Amino acid sequence: MIKKVIIAGAGHRSLCYAGYAQTAPDKMQIVGVAEPIKERRDFVAKAYNLPPECCFQDVDELVNREKFADAVINGTMDALHVETTVKLLDAGYEVLLEKPFAINHAEVIELEEAVKRTGRIVMICHVLRYAPFYAEIKQRILNGDIGRIVNIQATEHVSYHHYVVGYVRGKWRNKEISGSSFLMAKSCHDLDLIVWLKSGIKPVRVSSFGVADFFCRANAPKNSGTLCLVDCPIEKDCIYSVRQLCLNHPERWGAYIWPELDYSAELNTPEERERRLRDPDDRNSHCVWKCDNNLMDRQTVMIEFADHALATFNLIGNCTRPQRKLHIIGTKGEIEGVLDENKFVVRHIDVSPNCEYREECFNLHHMGDTTGAMGGHGGGDLRLIKDFIDVINGEPPSISCTLLEDSIAGHKLGFAADLSAQTHQCIELND
Ligand SMILES: NC(=O)c1ccc[n+]([C@@H]2O[C@H](COP(=O)([O-])OP(=O)(O)OC[C@H]3O[C@@H](n4cnc5c(N)ncnc54)[C@H](O)[C@@H]3O)[C@@H](O)[C@H]2O)c1
Repeated sequence: MIKKVIIAGAGHRSLCYAGYAQTAPDKMQIVGVAEPIKERRDFVAKAYNLPPECCFQDVDELVNREKFADAVINGTMDALHVETTVKLLDAGYEVLLEKPFAINHAEVIELEEAVKRTGRIVMICHVLRYAPFYAEIKQRILNGDIGRIVNIQATEHVSYHHYVVGYVRGKWRNKEISGSSFLMAKSCHDLDLIVWLKSGIKPVRVSSFGVADFFCRANAPKNSGTLCLVDCPIEKDCIYSVRQLCLNHPERWGAYIWPELDYSAELNTPEERERRLRDPDDRNSHCVWKCDNNLMDRQTVMIEFADHALATFNLIGNCTRPQRKLHIIGTKGEIEGVLDENKFVVRHIDVSPNCEYREECFNLHHMGDTTGAMGGHGGGDLRLIKDFIDVINGEPPSISCTLLEDSIAGHKLGFAADLSAQTHQCIELND
């Protein structure tokens, strides 16, 4: 049955999922929008032919009107997730909610209780579970191919351009502003994956170290200015200049740097992009060494599970190239792969003459990569929204399904890891 869906927060993320209404119009229809920024609201209204009475300033205005759809895609920013979702649940909507779905432990409990009280569905946008790379690995674990998992090693390398645009100059640069730490904003996905791969076995203990010592005033080169394109004498030689990172590569993170320009082909010119990056009120114009950023540059998380399996996760910002690596060791074999290559191997001990082990290679390129037909995140974006629509239609969930109850352990783990990094204590995880 076709499901009617409203967009709350018509930003970059919501519009990725809304695209499913175009690829599968027999499954999902966009029937409303709640968004404070007029250009964004008007863009969605035009794209989906929405009448004015279905366009709202914000979630508060939306929930004041009688329910007129099945579900809401909540793509507001991190600190608004729980507040807006509780209102939407009370108004009778099922919700697809962006990650991190909460900004602290207390908010996790608040949302959990709202779901129990209303009996509604909340699914979290842990899109990587839907990327063929991770979904295929999970299937092999469920098949018993490597036995019981005893160790997981995962890493996320965040490229220098992504780190600077998102976490030094960008909207996640400061925990007091966005609500999220680097670990939760960037890698709650990876913690979720580690817990999901352990299939119901709970993490019981976590320790973490984190460091923030690179993008700070103490490291600013001598003679550097405050605004790259306005007063910096060394701008031409700086690899972090907004000219190098943004103007010369507008295709990379344009949705974060010039979000408003995405809505106007006329305005989206090289001249206008540069004009904005000369404006001191635009946070992207600032010297990378002199921002109000306060996130970690890198963090290590160590986890013990109830069955004594161990896991480590390394998050490193400002790397040469982006990469997510995974190595899982089980009692009967191991799995090793790199998401960005869309390939993994399954290895087993082989005691035959002249042999040490045998290896089976899986190449998933044919199943959609980051630029493929199934959207970003290794092909996860559109697979996730498809699963959400199927689930609210009463169909059986896929193995990747990210219902709130399945996503809670990963978030609690992340908040505990941040507490550990802050207090230098090992944290016990209780229910
Ligand atoms: N799943 C992923 O892999 C992934 C990737 C990137 C970002 N995210 C998450 O997605 C979320 C959205 O990110 P984005 O880059 O699209 O943000 P964005 O800033 O582009 O969009 C958020 C929108 O919400 C609107 N908004 C603010 N208050 C509102 C209210 N009360 N009611 C309705 N709308 C309101 C804003 O005006 C804005 O247009 C964030 O939480 C982010 O962490 C997830």
